[in-house]
Amino acid sequence: MVLDTTQLNRRMTHFDDHEAIWLFGYGSLIWKAGFPYLERRPAHIHDWVRRFWQGSHDHRGTPQAPGRVATLLPRPGAVCHGMAYRISPETLRPLDVREKNGYLREITTLHFADGATAQGLTYIATADNAAFLGEAEPAAMARQIAEAHGPSGPNSDYLLNLADALDALGVEDSHVADLARRVRAHASTGAEPQPR
Ligand code: BEZ
Repeated sequence: MVLDTTQLNRRMTHFDDHEAIWLFGYGSLIWKAGFPYLERRPAHIHDWVRRFWQGSHDHRGTPQAPGRVATLLPRPGAVCHGMAYRISPETLRPLDVREKNGYLREITTLHFADGATAQGLTYIATADNAAFLGEAEPAAMARQIAEAHGPSGPNSDYLLNLADALDALGVEDSHVADLARRVRAHASTGAEPQPR
């Protein structure tokens, strides 16, 4: 896949004539929107899991030392919790640019706590994008996150802010919690935590 996904996303006109769109956030969008929105509500989507398998050389790392950020992987039966934003369609344009490092718009069904559902969008970095890193040993992923730093700040801030935001929402995500525990230990001692 091309390195810059902006134009691919601009071709996706599905919601262009809608007055407002629901955007599902599962990564930095949970704790920091950085765009105007009409409404914000916790939500979840089905059949996807959150994983720190996407490389970041433009926000939380550099081309020489990429960081790791969240993407979604298909997993039948899984539930991914996050935050939904109701936005105007024009708000997607700057987001397409901000997330150009491999993320594509994906149409998905959002589920809200009151049982309501809505069709909306999320951004997913699939395994065929040039910045995809995939799975690694948890210790290696944590070390990479602890050490990476990019124009948007330390990679560890992205992970730890996400872990705190999920805690505040009452969401358990063992992948994020395990990485956060390892990165916190790395920050305080420079070493991996002992097995529990
Ligand atoms: C998110 O935080 O959900 C997110 C937003 C844009 C690209 C990838 C993830």
